[in-house]
Amino acid sequence: MADLKAVVAVENIRYDRKAEALYILDQSLLPGEEKEIRLRTVEEMVEAIRALRVRGAPAIGICAAYCMYVLAKSIRTEDRQVFLRELSRYGQILSDARPTAVNLSWAIREMMRTALEHLNDPRGPMLDALYERAVAIHKDDMDKCAAISEYGLSLVKDGDGILTHCNAGPLATSQYGTALGPILLGTERGMTFHVFSDETRPLLQGARLTSYELQRAGVDVTLICDNMASIVMKNGWVQACFVGCDRVAANGDTANKIGTSGVAILAKHYGIPFYVLGPTSTIDMDCPDGAHIPIEERDPNEIKTMWYEKPMALAEVKCYNPAFDVTDHDLITAIITERGICRPPYTKSLKALFRD
Ligand code: MRU
Repeated sequence: MADLKAVVAVENIRYDRKAEALYILDQSLLPGEEKEIRLRTVEEMVEAIRALRVRGAPAIGICAAYCMYVLAKSIRTEDRQVFLRELSRYGQILSDARPTAVNLSWAIREMMRTALEHLNDPRGPMLDALYERAVAIHKDDMDKCAAISEYGLSLVKDGDGILTHCNAGPLATSQYGTALGPILLGTERGMTFHVFSDETRPLLQGARLTSYELQRAGVDVTLICDNMASIVMKNGWVQACFVGCDRVAANGDTANKIGTSGVAILAKHYGIPFYVLGPTSTIDMDCPDGAHIPIEERDPNEIKTMWYEKPMALAEVKCYNPAFDVTDHDLITAIITERGICRPPYTKSLKALFRD
């Protein structure tokens, strides 16, 4: 049953102030099961981030902000320097859980800055300030997604075919999402899009999450394997590609889910615009280019055994399982942020976003 409102309002991360408890929707169980789990300790938090129970660059940033608040509350000392050291140690542990998405370290830095600013306040008000900062990061992402969706929607027209890779919808962010934002917003306004969702190897975020979100929202979505992108483009069924991003370097090179760069190369071949959508918190101006983006490598069993009843390959066979790849800036038609649409040359247009 199509229910766009329920999809947009999905609570992938929820802090219950009454119960003083942080919950996430366990995305590793989707689409079969919708189950929340509670995160109490740093070990549970790291496990949830690594196992992609909570995932998507903006969502792990939001989750990390609440995690920092929960961890701050657990530190029992009157000595503020000890408190700060302990919180910073937790921040480092969380930050190391996944290296590519810059939103994770960005949110942790924001929380550390808030802790420093309120270091001399009594414990209660200091913790309140941390809570309010986490809520602000969450709320801010909702506003950013709404703005990105508006800008993205201006790039397509009713009836267009859109190809997307990975999952950059409400589950990976908040509310509308980034790459799926224009599609959901347009649908809400009565427009029709024909979306091709790559299944997205190795964790099948496209199959398990994107097609699930779009189908539930009443969008016309067709699931394809990653190696079918060329045929649907060649058939003339795709007028634009919308993808998310996990880190954008200062020159516009963009890390996103593994396989994204191949989609961009195909799009260039077929003359289809290739758009990257993400909040400014995903832009890392300290990172000069894609060669400086750390790429997470994951367990080979995600390829060899995870999705099969029996192992799919010999146990001893070598596997290379990078979670992300980098799309060169010259393959990207535009980068869409909440502050506007950046066009090449990105060294200039991205810099302009951060000018006061
Ligand atoms: O490994 P994931 O699932 O956390 O990867 C994140 C993604 O889904 C994408 O790469 C996405 O396009 C950017 S996050 C909105």
